Amino acid sequence: MMFSKKRLVVTAVLTAFIATGCALSSGSVSEESLGLRNTNLYTEDKTVGDKTDYSTAVAGKSKVYKRAFENAPPMISHDIEGMLPITASSNTCLACHDPEVAPSFEATAIPRSHLFDMRTETMLDTVSNTRYSCTQCHAPQSDNKPLVKNIFEPEFRTSDGDKQSNLLDNLNEGVQ
Ligand code: HEC
Ligand code: HEC
Repeated sequence: MMFSKKRLVVTAVLTAFIATGCALSSGSVSEESLGLRNTNLYTEDKTVGDKTDYSTAVAGKSKVYKRAFENAPPMISHDIEGMLPITASSNTCLACHDPEVAPSFEATAIPRSHLFDMRTETMLDTVSNTRYSCTQCHAPQSDNKPLVKNIFEPEFRTSDGDKQSNLLDNLNEGVQ
């Protein structure tokens, strides 16, 4: 069979492309390079999680964190060692965060939203059962380097929105 010169060149270039393409795909992706933990995905034998580094400052001596966004549940800034579990008969968190005692501990009082029964739309004397289990929504924060940089920037509509909440006041905003 006869090949024109042009055809030969095109065939050669195509062959080179296919050959290097195959070589690249067979050697460049390792198990360790997949995912963010950089260890083999089929075994956790050599996988060590980052150490958690929670605040050890006792309640009353910690520095509160800025809120992540408007009306975000604030992170717990102090040590909670010995305060859990929260049970039906014992809730240590309320011993300091109940509005009646919070000022004397200089603790942020639970907001009005936690004393409101959303079903009957009535204000209660005590914390609503739906807000009783504090650590369901509030958690301590570990000081670790994020694996992926967070570029989210909150926009607060009030000047103190990063340290105070007012969910009950604007819960129905936009609802007709
Ligand atoms: C001995 C009293 C005490 C107890 C018990 C306690 N707290 Fe606190 N908490 C405080 C004080 C005081 C602050 C304010 C920061 C400080 O001074 O350490 C605070 C801060 C917080 C904050 C941050 C508030 C803000 O405005 O950013 C959250 C959330 C919180 N506590 C949740 C909890 C939860 C949940 C529990 C139960 C697991 C709990 N606390 C138990 C006293 C207490
Ligand atoms: C269902 C989720 C949920 C539970 C359970 C819950 N919280 Fe909250 N908390 C929130 C959210 C969301 C906010 C911020 C918005 C708001 O409600 O005003 C908040 C706000 C707060 C604040 C800040 C108040 C302020 O004026 O800035 C404190 C303190 C707090 N909670 C403590 C507690 C404690 C103590 C408990 C347990 C008795 C508890 N929370 C249970 C979701 C929760």
